[in-house]
Amino acid sequence: MTTTSIDDIQLAYDDVGSGFPVVLIHGYPFNRSLWKEQVEALSSSYRVVTPDLRGFGESDTYEGPATMNRMAQDVAGLMDYLGIDQAVIGGLSMGGYVALAFVKQFPSRVKGLVLADTRAQADTEEGKQTRHQQAEKALSEGMAGIADAMLPKLLTPETVSKRPEVVKRVRDMMLKTKPQGAASALLGMAEREDQSEFISTIGVPTMIVVGREDAITPLADSETMNSKIQHSRLVVLDNAGHVSNLEQTEHFNYALMKFLERVAA
Ligand code: MLT
Repeated sequence: MTTTSIDDIQLAYDDVGSGFPVVLIHGYPFNRSLWKEQVEALSSSYRVVTPDLRGFGESDTYEGPATMNRMAQDVAGLMDYLGIDQAVIGGLSMGGYVALAFVKQFPSRVKGLVLADTRAQADTEEGKQTRHQQAEKALSEGMAGIADAMLPKLLTPETVSKRPEVVKRVRDMMLKTKPQGAASALLGMAEREDQSEFISTIGVPTMIVVGREDAITPLADSETMNSKIQHSRLVVLDNAGHVSNLEQTEHFNYALMKFLERVAA
C-alpha cells in the first residue's frame, strides 16, 4: 500500500503489475481489498491500480458530501501522479457511479469502461432521504447496524447460508469503514447527477456486468445501460447478487480478461 497527497487528502492505493493500466474503483461501504482476486488475476498482464476512495480504507476521511465528481477527480489526480495518461476504468456500484463521473469529465483518459453492478440513474427523492438518514445513523451509531441491514441485499441467499468466508469478508470490509467516510459518501451519492442521457454519448467499449440476483442495482438497470451505450456488452452472472466479483470470481475475471484482451491490447 502507498499513499499520496491528492488535493486536500492522503489517498491510499495499490499499484501492481505492468502493462496497459486498469483502474478498479470499489463500491460503498467497501475499500480497495474488494478487488484482491481481480488484482491477482490481471496483474501478470496489466498494471492494476486500486485506490481507496476518499473516506474509505486507508485514505483520509473528509467532512461534507464526497461527490462522485470529486472522487473521479481524485482518481484522475492519482493517475497524474502515477504518470498514467489513459486507462481502462472499472467500478462496482458506487465505483460505477464514480467511473461514469470520470468518463464524463475526462473522456480522453478512458480506453474502455467496466460498469459492474451499477446504474446510471440518480436517486429518487425517497432514496435521497434514506441516504441522509443512513448518514446520521452511521455517525451516531457506527457501522454495525448498517452492515447488518445491507448484508442480505449484497449477497444471494445461497451465499449468505453456504459461504461464510464471503459473508465475513464483506461484513469485515463494512465494519472497517469509518462512519465519517460512509456518511460523506452517502451524501455524495444522494447528490449524484442522473447519467441516463449522458451514457448514450459514451464512445468507448464498455463491459456491463451484473449478478442476476442483484437486489441493489437490479439486472433491469444494466439492461437499460446496455441499450443506451453504443459499444457495450452485457454479461449476466448467475448465482451472484450485488457483489458479483466476489460471488462469481472466476466468471467475473474471465469476462474481464476477455474484455481487456479486446480493448487494452
Ligand atoms: C454500493 O454498493 O456501492 C452501494 O450499495 C450503491 C448504492 O447504495 O447506491
